[in-house]
Amino acid sequence: HHHVAATSQEEQAPARVTRHVRPRRNRRADWVRRLVREHELSPSDLIWPFFVTEGKGVREPVASMPSVFRHSIDEAVKAVKEAAGLGVPAVAVFPYTTASLRDERGSEALNADNLVCRTVRAIKDAVPEIGIITDVALDPYTSHGHDGLIRDGCILNDETVEVLARQAQVQAEAGADVVAPSDMMDGRVAAIREALEECGLHETQIMSYTAKYASGYYGPFRDAIGSASALRGDKRTYQMDPANSDEAIREAELDIAEGADMLMVKPGMPYLDILRRLKDTFAMPTFAYQVSGEYAMLAAAFQNGWLDHDRIVLETLTCFKRAGADGILTYFALDAARLLNDRT
Ligand code: PBG
Repeated sequence: HHHVAATSQEEQAPARVTRHVRPRRNRRADWVRRLVREHELSPSDLIWPFFVTEGKGVREPVASMPSVFRHSIDEAVKAVKEAAGLGVPAVAVFPYTTASLRDERGSEALNADNLVCRTVRAIKDAVPEIGIITDVALDPYTSHGHDGLIRDGCILNDETVEVLARQAQVQAEAGADVVAPSDMMDGRVAAIREALEECGLHETQIMSYTAKYASGYYGPFRDAIGSASALRGDKRTYQMDPANSDEAIREAELDIAEGADMLMVKPGMPYLDILRRLKDTFAMPTFAYQVSGEYAMLAAAFQNGWLDHDRIVLETLTCFKRAGADGILTYFALDAARLLNDRT
């Protein structure tokens, strides 16, 4: 650009064109904004995570998650029916386990008649068209609130993986369409895949929590499943360091090699860079989890009138799509699906 001789023609021409470039033309009316829009959120992009508890006719509010409830199975079935009616393709079930059923080894996880398995059967029965995702991890069942088995203060990897493989099998036998290991043990996807194949469950998908970070944003979820007060220490020896990104690539390589059908990044909004990297690198079905703490932040702002619920819900979920998500697990799934249906 310091070569004056070369600029006279080459730089004047682009300058003249630039003066006439007006990006606002393509934003000037709704019809053209719709026409040039790159990403469109639809109910088919949404997965609704919900909480179940024992009882009948129960809808128990979760204090740190306004408008989120722990449902008894009958109430959960009603809500899931509504989700299906709104066009939501899948739901993810998380149990609030009675304190007396929690133990050091999380044995209730392997009970084929536990709350999750009964919920799955009830939903399969009443709403067969919706996909059901179950969480594979021990934290709802352990007295110490960790996702795995503990010895001398250490979370044991290989022993935990054996239990997780059996847990996944029990869930799949109850009718879960997708099992979603959220524990971050090494080798769990391979072990789960092996266990499923061995009992002929070839079709059960694995949605792996591939890049699950040791995040402060899970606090309200731990309230919801009753593991917050129980949790001893933190999960930093198995969940990922929020400062890392390359590590997510290595985790994804392993999960894919081990037989994962879908990848997930968690938390959601603060980790959109990870989502984009995984989608671009692996071209796998890739999901984001807008977690409980993200929900809580937004819900608090809505309650105070600081942010507009409808607008923000649709904006944030659209941002996940833009960043490469094939779908989003979000506690706003029903709200968003209602809004999207009302629009059209
Ligand atoms: C359990 C699990 C957690 C979440 C999903 N599965 C909590 C944790 O790892 O402590 C968090 C979901 C949310 O915060 O919405 N392994």
